[in-house]
Amino acid sequence: MTSVREIFDSMAYGPAPEGHAEALAWIAGHQGRFGHWINGAFSAPGAMFETRNPATGKVLAEVTQGSGEEIALAVAAARAAQGKWARMGGARRARVLYALARLVQKHSRMFAVLETLDTGKPIREARDIDVPLVARHFYYHAGLAQLLDSEQPGFAPVGVCGAVIPWNFPLLMLAWKVAPALAAGNTVVLKPAEYTPLTALFFAEISREAGLPKGVLNIVTGDGDTGAALVAHPGVDKIAFTGSTAVGRKIRAATAGTGKALTLELGGKSPYIVFDDADIDSAIEGLVDAIWFNGGQVCCAGSRLLVQEGISDRFHAKLKRRMDGLRMGDPLDKCIDVGAIVDPVQLAMIRGMVEGSDGEVYHAACAVPEGCFYPPTLITGLNAASRLMQEEIFGPVLVSMTFRTPSEAVELANNTRYGLAASIWTENVNLALDMAPKVKAGVVWVNATNLFDAAAGFGGVRESGFGREGGWEGLMAYLRPVAKTKVLTAPKVLPAPAEAVVEGIDRTAKLYIGGKQARPDGGYSQAIWSAKGKLLGHVGLGNRKDIRNAVEAAHAAKGWGKATGHNRAQILYYMGENLSARTREFAQRIKDQTGRDGADEVEAAINRLFTYAAWADKYDGAVKQVPMRAVALAMNEPVGVIGALCPDEAPLLGFVSVMAPAIAMGNTCVLVPSQSAPLSATDFYQVLETSDLPAGVVNIVTGAHHDLAKPLAGHLDVDAVWSFSSAPLSAQIETEAAGNLKQTWVNHGRGRDWFGATGAGREFLRHATEIKTIWVPYGE
Ligand code: NAI
Repeated sequence: MTSVREIFDSMAYGPAPEGHAEALAWIAGHQGRFGHWINGAFSAPGAMFETRNPATGKVLAEVTQGSGEEIALAVAAARAAQGKWARMGGARRARVLYALARLVQKHSRMFAVLETLDTGKPIREARDIDVPLVARHFYYHAGLAQLLDSEQPGFAPVGVCGAVIPWNFPLLMLAWKVAPALAAGNTVVLKPAEYTPLTALFFAEISREAGLPKGVLNIVTGDGDTGAALVAHPGVDKIAFTGSTAVGRKIRAATAGTGKALTLELGGKSPYIVFDDADIDSAIEGLVDAIWFNGGQVCCAGSRLLVQEGISDRFHAKLKRRMDGLRMGDPLDKCIDVGAIVDPVQLAMIRGMVEGSDGEVYHAACAVPEGCFYPPTLITGLNAASRLMQEEIFGPVLVSMTFRTPSEAVELANNTRYGLAASIWTENVNLALDMAPKVKAGVVWVNATNLFDAAAGFGGVRESGFGREGGWEGLMAYLRPVAKTKVLTAPKVLPAPAEAVVEGIDRTAKLYIGGKQARPDGGYSQAIWSAKGKLLGHVGLGNRKDIRNAVEAAHAAKGWGKATGHNRAQILYYMGENLSARTREFAQRIKDQTGRDGADEVEAAINRLFTYAAWADKYDGAVKQVPMRAVALAMNEPVGVIGALCPDEAPLLGFVSVMAPAIAMGNTCVLVPSQSAPLSATDFYQVLETSDLPAGVVNIVTGAHHDLAKPLAGHLDVDAVWSFSSAPLSAQIETEAAGNLKQTWVNHGRGRDWFGATGAGREFLRHATEIKTIWVPYGE
């Protein structure tokens, strides 16, 4: 036996294992076999597969491979329970969520041990991070439920939500999906990852004690096929997914055109930027949390170190020393820093990626246990385009590069298709806050990493997905507006009359690209006739090439996003003024194209420009109340380049209602005006030209919606596509958008009241912005 003296000499940690008897007893109490949790009870176990402890390779339990029929049963239970759950009201739902939070705390030890057994993550993490965050999530959402009815009038729950979650934070991801869904009055069918189903089943079982009505939460276990069946089920109204970008893309395509709401939280390759004035010891400790927390199996892991050249040798040397001191081993041991990899399949993937590396590979000199373990690893000497610099490894592997200047750091940080998170280390707060908006990411940590809280939105941009989890912003993804909408009919472009009335000088409107009128590439145009057979003019028929040119111009004008809200407001007011000066002419044009008196529409369009001028400097962000010594700033940032198909119902007002919120929030845009009445938009060129709007902020491509939707939605440099078209294009747009996982906002064939409440307001502003959460801890 080791003596006290020997311990003092070596200062080595002895084993400090957490007991797992209770967790194993719970599994044994179910004979080691689980069915699904449907309608408040376990179903009989069916076709089984095993879930193992990755640290030992031992089978923990068998769970059921969910079939399409079982998914259907769970969806039916969720559907049957939904109306009553919603009608209970936010305040009564809050009680249940509060009880769930309390139960998570009461069973916290059990949850932590079960999670560690199933995932291989160190018990220290499960106990001190995962489980407390889960409890906090339910408490916070109990509060949101309590306030929902008074704070968000005019919204209803989406309905039945399908949640598909990964294996790296099984219980936490359950909480991130289930808490907001239930708070908002939805019911849920959740499919845990195949490697890690146990904590979800335990949660379901104890949810009865919280008074959760039957059918409100259903858990169906299984693999990707079960997930795909849930995604495909027509009774599901929304899918919330966390996992790989590859599967996210499949889900985007599978839900296209179904009307299902979708949020995707996908992969990342998050930069960890260290400036030469950083507190190096803190930055190294931060890095331990960034890339060795949960063995690097974290979507927002700081997996790409960017260190300023002057300190890189010293930094790497210190880092290697720290890596050598990391302790790997039994995840149930409370002294362990790095646990097991979740499954041999993942281990093989990590090995394969590192072995194929063309960089210098350093493995930590710590003892690596037998089995499903991989040592902390640092790879240097890669170039920016190397596979390992670009692709998610999803293991304890850090890749590193150097930079010289802040602008080079931004360039390298953004040289990725992902945009989930970033860490910035510098003692210069001005530099950090200058960098934070420039880095493409949904979350930025200043002198910190991997901070999470229920109040602060989490989620990505680009191929890291869309939607936020946490805060009011996260809750909104589980609600829908309750406005009445009407079915749209396909646009009618009036044919040439038998006897044409042609007056005056021919006028053919060109396209409007980069602040200039441009001939359509194809050289085709289309005549626009009034109902009385009068030739009103011609418009160019844009094609794929025109869309490309317009997107390029919109990109070149992205500096618009940096203009102040005040400046953007001034330009929108100016547009209103210029439109007002030409009211009679625009009203006549509406009358000619639609047969309706156009005066009201012009007046409403002027008003709308003023509304968004007003909003331009008032759609504020927030400072979130996080329970630690930190501020979490929720900044509303522009989405980027927005492509939009404008409505036919109100040719001028519809066009303005789409353009104005987009540019008020700092986006640039490519707009396709009404197909049947495009002349109101082409007349608007002159308003744009006389309002000091920088070239390229608004680009207009006229033509057939059907032909232009695909190139717009498929363009990899477009960040969001909106469609208010009366042509049935929603499915096509959502399918095409899967390419770069751009955000979509489509009408599924339903129109809105452009003159009324649904024609303007916060819904538009929400779609025109992306929330970036910037964490700044404080204190010495
Ligand atoms: P995955 O994306 O395949 O699995 C996530 C969830 O989706 C699981 O529940 C799975 O059963 C389900 N799923 C799989 N195919 C599906 C389909 N066609 N339709 C619906 N659901 C489906 O992730 P996987 O295979 O577990 O890990 C592979 C890689 O994905 C990792 O190496 C990592 O790079 C990335 N990943 C990223 C995560 C993140 O949080 N961003 C989490 C987990 C994995």
